[in-house]
Amino acid sequence: MSGPDLGVCYYPEQWDEAVWADDAARMRALGLTWVRIAEFAWARIEPAPGRFDWGWLDRAVATLGGAGLKVILCTPTAAPPKWLVDLHPEILPVGPDGTVRKFGARRHYCFSSPRYREEAARITRAIAERYGRHPHVHAWQTDNEYGDHDTIHSYSPAAEAGFRSWLRARYGTIDALNRAWGTSFWSMSYGDFDQIDLPNNLVEEPSPTHRVDFLRYSSDQVRDFNRAQVRIIRALSPGRPVTHNFMNQNTDFDHFDLAEDLDVASWDVYPLGGLVHGRLPRADKMRYLRAGDPDQTSFNHDLYRAVGRGRVWVMEQQPGPVNWAVTNPAPLDGMVRFWTWLAFAHGCEMISYFRWRQAPFAQEQFHAALLHPDSSPDQAFDEVAEVVAEASAMPVLPPRERARVALVLDYPSRWVAQALPQGQGYNAAHVALDWYAAARRHGVEVDIIGQHSDLSGYGLILAPDLMVADAAFVARVRAAGAKILFGPRSGSKTVDVQTPEGLAPGPLRGLIDLRVTRVESLPDDHAETVLAGNLALPAHRWRETVETAADVLATFAGGYRAGAPALIGNDRARYLAALMPPEGLARVVTDALDWAGVPWLADLGDVRITRRGGVTFGFNYGPEPASVPAPEGVRFLIGGRALPPAGVAAWVSAAG
Ligand code: GAL
Repeated sequence: MSGPDLGVCYYPEQWDEAVWADDAARMRALGLTWVRIAEFAWARIEPAPGRFDWGWLDRAVATLGGAGLKVILCTPTAAPPKWLVDLHPEILPVGPDGTVRKFGARRHYCFSSPRYREEAARITRAIAERYGRHPHVHAWQTDNEYGDHDTIHSYSPAAEAGFRSWLRARYGTIDALNRAWGTSFWSMSYGDFDQIDLPNNLVEEPSPTHRVDFLRYSSDQVRDFNRAQVRIIRALSPGRPVTHNFMNQNTDFDHFDLAEDLDVASWDVYPLGGLVHGRLPRADKMRYLRAGDPDQTSFNHDLYRAVGRGRVWVMEQQPGPVNWAVTNPAPLDGMVRFWTWLAFAHGCEMISYFRWRQAPFAQEQFHAALLHPDSSPDQAFDEVAEVVAEASAMPVLPPRERARVALVLDYPSRWVAQALPQGQGYNAAHVALDWYAAARRHGVEVDIIGQHSDLSGYGLILAPDLMVADAAFVARVRAAGAKILFGPRSGSKTVDVQTPEGLAPGPLRGLIDLRVTRVESLPDDHAETVLAGNLALPAHRWRETVETAADVLATFAGGYRAGAPALIGNDRARYLAALMPPEGLARVVTDALDWAGVPWLADLGDVRITRRGGVTFGFNYGPEPASVPAPEGVRFLIGGRALPPAGVAAWVSAAG
């Protein structure tokens, strides 16, 4: 079969050993070829300090592998056992209020704890020694979902000590730190690195540089924690790819930075929880209740494809209702099939469902799976079978081609936006997704890139929120020949989280001549108007006053500073001086696509299309039937021109 490789998450430690063989045989019969195990199994592997019980895991690997499944083995460090916590309580994380977060769930560890680093390395080495060259072990996952349950930032004594040495290495002298943090403000100056506290439990907000340095420090701890495991696995398990399962839109650490140590990026796809907690207005959340935000999942596929330097897997695919969102609706029948083809279309090599059998006990009893707790098939089981049947019509597809449009996501800029939001409604993740959606709903492919990424081949770069732009990026944009559209706040802070010389947008003046002389945040229900020729476009939430010698392409109207520039540009760069809701953004982005010579389609409404190799895929997220924008005479491999709700189609040109 072609199409995606499929897999499943399995927990042999949660089931009677008598059912393993039957489970494994049914997985294979369904068409699955991968199985991920053991990410929470530390207490079963090492029930007491230094006493290992490998027997059950040996038998589980043998049973699954013997049935023809490729095992993805995990390091179990996301759930340290009770005896370890009792022996070394200092490994527990500390919340921002100073309270120790206790044992009894998972992710109860502090990345800064030297003791936990040692313990994590010890268990990783033990597992990699035993299974590193095992013929059934084909890949590794480190830990599980770094960042889940807000666990990147810990305010422990170990974090305080680690932060102080990190600052010493970054700044060299305390005077340099005082200058960077602006400690002459409010008498905050320090005489020594050892006087510095973590930025929690303060009377008012800390210096934004203090906060951002702590976020940078914490990101580095996650990278180093992961790197230590990867090094051990590489030494003991040659030739097996190492991955980590990232999350939807977590920006608490720099994923590009961490993934330099991985072979493949993977991520966990739970679109309905993502919708409920996401950016869309209430009416759209109701419209897409059982299908998810039409752009959020694709955004993450495109992001993690970049994070994995072209290689991406789905490690956990939502199979039905979950248990952890504010409300947990069921997906439309057909959505599991839909999400599988969506992932494949966006370049995912492997899609693994979470989980094989629904748990009748513990925290996730309401979380659906491929099987009910009594082992009878649930809806997702049948939809996986449908994907497997459809895959026989799918030719072998190459990896995704480079898109013509790229969108810049810069993790350090996100941290600066978090430290200096200048208005409660400012959410950089939502802004980036709105920009991505503006192009995607017109059928345009968008790659996600970092500031450091290769820019060759792009016609248009979208930079919605690049607050800290580095000079090297500016030089590379100049050399690359792409056009670039910046959003408000771009280039507005230095690496020290200060206002750049000559005002914002700092180094971006190398691309476009302008000065931002005032910024304001606005209440959600206040609307601004931007005039572009005869066209009135809405703007909201954020507005800037800009002085420029470049061409003014649109101006603000209304009672405040009417006629001030809202969109300016030259032949290479444009700058939009306000945030815009989708109606306004669609116009600004499609104009920029025309300017860059990138073709686009009329608004696709609830439908999204995307292309891999010679195959174009269409997806209907809406509650009504729709049709795909396929030219006459194409040949359909999956579905047809008419797309029901939750419908999928895939087509090739008649000759293809
Ligand atoms: C993920 C996690 C899994 C499981 C799942 C439930 O965040 O990695 O272990 O808890 O959520 O949806």
